[in-house]
Amino acid sequence: MTLTPYLFRPASGGHPLAYVDTHSKVAGPPPSAAVVFVHAFPLGAGMWLPQMLGTPPGWRFVAPAVRGFDATEEWLDHGRAHIDQYADDVLAVMNHLGIGRAVVVGLSMGGYVAFAMFRKAPDRFSGLLLADTRATSDSPEARQARLAMLERVEREGPHPWLADQMIPKLLSERTIRRRPNVVATVREIVQAQTAAAIRGAVQRMLLRPDSTDELSRIAVPTAIVVGEHDTLTPLSDAKAMQAGIRGAVLEVVPEAAHLSNIEQPDDFNMALGRLLQKVGEPVGALA
Ligand code: MLT
Repeated sequence: MTLTPYLFRPASGGHPLAYVDTHSKVAGPPPSAAVVFVHAFPLGAGMWLPQMLGTPPGWRFVAPAVRGFDATEEWLDHGRAHIDQYADDVLAVMNHLGIGRAVVVGLSMGGYVAFAMFRKAPDRFSGLLLADTRATSDSPEARQARLAMLERVEREGPHPWLADQMIPKLLSERTIRRRPNVVATVREIVQAQTAAAIRGAVQRMLLRPDSTDELSRIAVPTAIVVGEHDTLTPLSDAKAMQAGIRGAVLEVVPEAAHLSNIEQPDDFNMALGRLLQKVGEPVGALA
């Protein structure tokens, strides 16, 4: 397995994109069962290392970075920023790899992208894991905070203050006190992202539509995962999504805040494993 990102430019002439993949291109045909992980803000595909290391036999784990992240380029199509563009990016990586259907795992911003993917291409989902995210759009206060962030990025660039500002929200107080290696990993991933990527993500999150209406249309096995100390997208958001999705299971991760997959990878991976068992046998390559 490599976690060195692969880079490609979609045949349609779209953005160059990066992704990591547990299937080695020299290892023969890939497993047909796939999980596609969509990252949070302001991180990149590297945040999924603890999941990639636990890839179960028979499964292929792929983590794309949306445009601009992980040293790719960002430009606005016709000057317009929309969360759908990130959905297109993830779908372009699936197309590139011949992945027809996948279990889609989205954490926080990744969850917003999963909803946008679902609106466009519900038939590409074999299962869904929504972690530390919400279906609703931004409140007026959240929009103000995003505008302030955009202004500061414009004025000063994003580093190092963005990581300083975000880490106390991303990680629990206990992790920050006791696990400097986890803090350093998160800081490193944040600081690798460019101002253009960060601006593009803030604009897209700010403008994203409400996805509450989508919940009742989701008909694949679904797990909702949330860190017990998540204050950015708290348990109440998770419960609201669970109530809207038929048969969705709620998994609360102890001793974790927002980045539950990084803070408590064993619990997160077990929740994912339970979902994969439910999804069961795989999914078939892209026709
Ligand atoms: C994230 O973790 O992706 C962000 O905190 C999401 C957001 O700012 O709404």
